Amino acid sequence: MLTVFMSNPFREDLVSRSRPESCSVVIFGATGDLTHRKLIPALYNLAVDGELPSSVKIVGFARREKSDEEFREGLKVLNKEVSRNGHNEDVWSEFEKTVHYHQSEFQDVDGYKRLADRLDAVDAERGGKGNRLFYIASAPEYFDDILVNLKKAGLNVNADGFWSRVIVEKPFGTDLATAQHLNQVVNETFEEKDTYRIDHYLGKETAQNIMVLRFANAIFEPLWNSRYIEQIQITCSEHLGMEGGRGGYYDKSGALRDMVQNHLLQLLSLVAMEPPTDLSADGVRDEKVKVIRSLRQWDTPELVAENVVRGQYTAGHVNGKSVVGYTEEDRVDPESNTEAYVAVRCMVDTWRWSGVPFYVRMGKRLPKKATEISVHFKAAPNVLFNAIPGASDNGNVLVIRIQPDEGISLRMVSKLPGTSLRLEPVKMDFHYSTSFGKGSPEAYERLLLDAMAGDATLFARRDEVEEAWKFIDHIQNAWHKSKTPPPMAEFVAGSWGPEEADNLLAKDNNTWRRL
Ligand code: BG6
Repeated sequence: MLTVFMSNPFREDLVSRSRPESCSVVIFGATGDLTHRKLIPALYNLAVDGELPSSVKIVGFARREKSDEEFREGLKVLNKEVSRNGHNEDVWSEFEKTVHYHQSEFQDVDGYKRLADRLDAVDAERGGKGNRLFYIASAPEYFDDILVNLKKAGLNVNADGFWSRVIVEKPFGTDLATAQHLNQVVNETFEEKDTYRIDHYLGKETAQNIMVLRFANAIFEPLWNSRYIEQIQITCSEHLGMEGGRGGYYDKSGALRDMVQNHLLQLLSLVAMEPPTDLSADGVRDEKVKVIRSLRQWDTPELVAENVVRGQYTAGHVNGKSVVGYTEEDRVDPESNTEAYVAVRCMVDTWRWSGVPFYVRMGKRLPKKATEISVHFKAAPNVLFNAIPGASDNGNVLVIRIQPDEGISLRMVSKLPGTSLRLEPVKMDFHYSTSFGKGSPEAYERLLLDAMAGDATLFARRDEVEEAWKFIDHIQNAWHKSKTPPPMAEFVAGSWGPEEADNLLAKDNNTWRRL
């Protein structure tokens, strides 16, 4: 039996916890982009770091006819391009022996029975261990079929002390009703404790660090409330548009559903949550869901018009290249009413955050790729330095950079060196890469490993997903179902979004932070 445990002299320090028990990982949608670009490279990197369980077996399940060899070859080509650890042919050739392909239609129950036999044979070879992790990464229209057929083939049961778990990719529904339906199908198949709704933002190193920053440092938490904080901004900017045929999916989704419902509300909940009673999965998720439940609902078209801006880019330039407008993109409806930019003013109606706006924005075709959270503190009383040059620009800002260049910086006011008194903002800056001398694992590495280890802390719970949809549905309804829908703003590709989004903050006397 092959054991995937390659030592890597450069990364031995990374093996920080015991490896999960051996298991089979079955990926549905194995010929898709996610499997090639993220999941297999993540498993390969875990193998390089010696973190994969021993005698792991990876089975790709998809509709196309393919041999194991053809499947492995396709994976290798992409792994060479994207792997964080680079591509080492010796390591890969050991790793790929654990990878197999299983052809079946998603609707064909026999394909799942054959899968069950195959997994039983693997387990028998291993000496009877039968842990299984099913990763549903197919197109969303097959999620139900896959779950129902796993159950029909008896693959969902935890038998004789062995576990069977499921990871469900996004999109987790397209609104509250479809999310509730999917949750019901999932819960009829797997127990909630065995269900892992993935949100890859929760696996990003700096997102995980938010709780540590807040609750392991005595200096921040006393200030972390409406008394000291003026406003908080969460920005996810992307320079890409609809390359690679992505417009087909995106035009049906839009920025609000694609990123705000999940990734950005998850970040917001980590920033705004109360300290959990412990670090258990439910301890943390109990507090996160309270934040999402406390969001003030923008539940009329007027409230949506006041608090939310949606936009589309027109032709422009990004990174020196000319690009077309959103409605001219490949696979996008020329009459499209879908937003490629959104900015939402959120109010968290809790004691701690009373009156503090949380501005959340996401856009495609902005100047660069960057995600950050900035916490803007109230200004110090301006009695001493009132008349001094530079004194008006005196707000402290704590910036949590989620990507790229993960890190944290604190902006403060300092005296400019010299014989006269002048003030100037300066930055204390912490970079992960230089401080720890090593890069962070990819989000999917951490999350796959957590699911194998049975730790659901970094996965969304049923109630979190549904509460987030309630908030999003009101906005979607105002845009698409009301008689007086708020307008669609426009901005030139390569700029920082529409003027209307600047006006949204100007009403509160605030401005967006320049990234
Ligand atoms: C995905 C969205 O969930 O996240 C994409 O569907 C988006 O539209 C992507 O580009 C961003 O992820 P990351 O990790 O590159 O910031």
